[in-house]
Amino acid sequence: MIEENIDEMSEDTIDEEKIKYHLRDLKTALNKKGEDHLLPDLLPTDQTIVDIGCGLGQSFLVLGCTDRDCIGVDVHGASIAYGKEKFGDKIRFHHTDASNIPEPDGTVDLIYACVSIPYTNIPRVIKEIKRLLKVKGRVWMTLHSRDYAREQLSIAIHNRRIKDFIHKIYLIMNGYLLKWFGFLIPWLNGDYESWQDADTMIRLLTKNGFDASQSIQKDHLVITGVLKSKE
Ligand SMILES: C[S@@+](CC[C@H](N)C(=O)[O-])C[C@H]1O[C@@H](n2cnc3c(N)ncnc32)[C@H](O)[C@@H]1O
Repeated sequence: MIEENIDEMSEDTIDEEKIKYHLRDLKTALNKKGEDHLLPDLLPTDQTIVDIGCGLGQSFLVLGCTDRDCIGVDVHGASIAYGKEKFGDKIRFHHTDASNIPEPDGTVDLIYACVSIPYTNIPRVIKEIKRLLKVKGRVWMTLHSRDYAREQLSIAIHNRRIKDFIHKIYLIMNGYLLKWFGFLIPWLNGDYESWQDADTMIRLLTKNGFDASQSIQKDHLVITGVLKSKE
């Protein structure tokens, strides 16, 4: 709904739809006690946790970890405002880009990003994750595959939406830029989008001092890393 009709929607309607999306996500996850939800496993030592692309902070509620220091980060102002109003007593929110998180160096145990890394400037965000994590801190993230990007392009072609078609070409090209040259370029409005493969992400994390690996969790490819050193 959000993607299909975005051109025709006013800013207010987009905000409302995004908040509804996060609320639906929260309701489904709580009903199913998080069974279908793709989230990291928490360790008792994960006392300070950052969720990149947190929306309303729903994943902290699903994880049931709000007795710890939970920090939610999102670029979408209306979602953060809603989260602050409803859950601000349990979660600390930052309305900011993932590449610039206002928390001190070396203070975070776990950073996770569920379906949000593909919308960021990944090389810069990995550097920011490294800055925030303690040594032996962990990162957990889900990706958008090249097949996903191709599917998005097919949908744009099927719908004969020229603007969307050009954007999906950008999305596919950006994934190759990341894979072959290790950088991304922004879309016209300054936002980022790309697809990623496991080898590329593991290479980027390894270059930044992580011990990184891939796994399949609930049918999804997940990349995890442990920060070996700050050097
Ligand atoms: C598809 S939603 C996923 C929300 C939630 N993590 C989940 O799993 O349901 C992607 C989220 O990432 C946020 N986001 C996109 N780009 C971002 C960026 N550069 N920095 C921080 N958050 C971003 C969006 O506003 C949105 O809330």
